[in-house]
Amino acid sequence: MTHILCIGAGYVGGPTMAVIAKHCPQHRITVVDVNRQRIDAWNSDQLPIYEPGLKEVVEQARGRNLFFTADDIEQHIDQSEIIFVSVNTPTKSFGQGAGRAADLQYWEKTARQILENSTSPKIIIEKSTLPVRTAEAMAHILNTNPNGLHFDVLSNPEFLAEGNAIENLEHPDRVLIGGHDTPSAQAAVQTVVDLYANWVPRDKIITTNLWSSELSKLVANAFLAQRISSINAISALCEKTGADVSEVAYAIGTDSRIGPKFLQASVGFGGSCFKKDILNLVYLCEQQNLPEVAEYWEQVLKINEYQGARFVANMVHSMFNTLAGKRIALFGAAFKANTSDTRESPALVVCRELLDEHAQVVLCDPYALENAHQELGALARKVTFEPDPYLAAQGAHAIAILTEWSQFAALDYQRIFQSMAHPAFIFDGRNILDHKALFEMGFNVHAVGKAPRLHFNDIGK
Ligand code: NAD
Ligand code: UGA
Repeated sequence: MTHILCIGAGYVGGPTMAVIAKHCPQHRITVVDVNRQRIDAWNSDQLPIYEPGLKEVVEQARGRNLFFTADDIEQHIDQSEIIFVSVNTPTKSFGQGAGRAADLQYWEKTARQILENSTSPKIIIEKSTLPVRTAEAMAHILNTNPNGLHFDVLSNPEFLAEGNAIENLEHPDRVLIGGHDTPSAQAAVQTVVDLYANWVPRDKIITTNLWSSELSKLVANAFLAQRISSINAISALCEKTGADVSEVAYAIGTDSRIGPKFLQASVGFGGSCFKKDILNLVYLCEQQNLPEVAEYWEQVLKINEYQGARFVANMVHSMFNTLAGKRIALFGAAFKANTSDTRESPALVVCRELLDEHAQVVLCDPYALENAHQELGALARKVTFEPDPYLAAQGAHAIAILTEWSQFAALDYQRIFQSMAHPAFIFDGRNILDHKALFEMGFNVHAVGKAPRLHFNDIGK
């Protein structure tokens, strides 16, 4: 039996360790966190995050070979042979690199904690997303220990997407493990390969050098975000020319060199990582004196901001240039469907801008209202939180679809239309509704990357 520890019981640490525990009953997995409330939730029926299938996996392994605890972290460090570090690495908000660089304080704290509490050698695995060459700093800190212990630092970035975490962990496109080309590091790489090989086909486990692994994680997120910004940039052109962005996406996506995924035009991408990881990449390029490369990737973020601002500007303009006092139902608070996560959610970007316009905002989401409330801070008192979409839309002048929950596509819009103030508007920021049918019901319909369908001719021009 190997003792495996994960430091950080968040969106990555919790689900990742649950799936490892499920497939490796021969190993004992402990997940620790400084946030006791979070740990209590992992030990309860109300897990701290919503992910389809997560509860089942946790319940299968918890108490058997999967343990969540906020106690005796020092002792758990000492007892473990393998330590995954999955702490948060947000964008730095102060000092050098503020607003761009990764804030590595939580990361470094864990390195020192491992150093102070270890009496035996260990494999340390970077699970968090980190700037390239962070493992070097980690190794410097760890291998300065006075008792001559040796630590192998590996990179094993996580590629799961929220809402699909369990599916992605059960059947990953690939598992990436980076390590130095020394006998000790290669033996450590083999140990981690063997761990994943309990359920991941061997040809999907890629091993690389440390720096390639660290950089690949940032680059994967940058490429994914770039595709969304590319199609969103084209959506603006579609709206001006009468082309339909869904048709364009389908037409280009059938080219096997381009492929169909991540071409869904939207109100913009959100989530805790795309923005932070691209900022991190931009900062790294600037540090390496590559301003043209930095500028290239920064443009992905600029288009994303433009897309959100454009969406709100269109709402204001279409609704007779004033939203003051108008009730507007926002369908969706989560940054994407099937998650309760609202970090960097485009829905909250739109919400804040509508509040600036003095609109009466009603926020509706099946799982994310609590997080949205927290994220909005002081602004939350100006917002009505309503989980029932029919009640949210009652008396509203407009509905904006901001998260692609399938529930929102299945609503009775005829009933909704009748309960709204007229003329009634619908702004589909996710292109999940039947726009023709809505128009025929009487709605004025605006959808990203499509010509508006309006019951009066002079609006929207
Ligand atoms: P998170 O904020 O949900 O979780 C991190 C946890 O680490 C928190 O609960 C925090 O209390 C804990 N922590 C911080 N310092 C600690 C310490 N010294 N000891 C014990 N616990 C400590 O973050 P997350 O979304 O799980 O992301 C973690 C990392 O994984 C980030 O680098 C992120 O970029 C990366 N990542 C995230 C996702 C995702 O879908 N969220 C996907 C891939 C990679
Ligand atoms: C993303 C990556 O997909 C994961 O591989 C990565 O591990 C993770 O970031 C991370 O490092 O945190 P995630 O942010 O959970 O995962 O979700 P995505 O499915 O990538 O969606 C991100 C945003 O893009 C969402 O707001 C989503 O609605 C939006 N999106 C996605 C679009 O607007 N259009 C698309 O075609 C696809």
